[in-house]
Amino acid sequence: MNIDCDEFEVNNWIVSEFVANTLVPIVGVHPFPLNELFLMVSAVCRLKPNFIVEWGTHLGKSARIFYETSKRFGLDIAIHSVDLPDDTAHQEHPGLQRGVLVKGLHEVTLHQGDGLTVCLEIHNRIGKPNSMLVFIDGDHTHASVKRELTGVMAHMPDANILLHDTFYQSEKSGYNVGPYTAIAEAMAVAPNRYRRLSTDTGLPGMTLLYQLTTVPGL
Ligand SMILES: C[S@@+](CC[C@H](N)C(=O)[O-])C[C@H]1O[C@@H](n2cnc3c(N)ncnc32)[C@H](O)[C@@H]1O
Repeated sequence: MNIDCDEFEVNNWIVSEFVANTLVPIVGVHPFPLNELFLMVSAVCRLKPNFIVEWGTHLGKSARIFYETSKRFGLDIAIHSVDLPDDTAHQEHPGLQRGVLVKGLHEVTLHQGDGLTVCLEIHNRIGKPNSMLVFIDGDHTHASVKRELTGVMAHMPDANILLHDTFYQSEKSGYNVGPYTAIAEAMAVAPNRYRRLSTDTGLPGMTLLYQLTTVPGL
């Protein structure tokens, strides 16, 4: 990476080798296709957070991606991953498989509860001077994503935010554009606060909202 740059930049060749040779053999390309794996790794390498808080955990693929990235690039990131309690009815809850891909990794702490609520508790406990990346990948309804995104924006003003399932397609596609709409509405309220990077070629879609002031070296 060129540390004198004014824009988001990573070394695409180094990230490509890591994604192809390390990540894909461990996590495959579902639910995160290559371009999303690429954006996740790039966000971590460029923003260098001290903490990542993500929900939902599911099997632990995204948590494992963050863990492997931190390890490969020597970043020493504490990763917190939240999923709903076992007795909560949610069509995607993984039951006993929750977090199987990160069990036993001491850099990854698993929590159960509502993602936003646990995230804010962790943020309050840690205190301000730390950089944090939040990954929102829980319930993908418009109402849930809007609540979570606006909650993070209001209570964690310095956090950078990554969101999943954010692809936009016209109404007749029948796709869930709730996350895309939630982001558009939140951005309309704070138009200059974040820069945005998205994978826009197809489903499921990922969006990074980052703040230049939090980019190391800028
Ligand atoms: C699409 S899966 C997440 C995929 C996961 N990040 C991965 O790496 O494969 C959605 C998960 O979010 C969880 N979930 C739904 N609502 C949540 C909430 N409010 N807080 C925490 N987790 C939630 C579900 O139980 C499910 O495990």
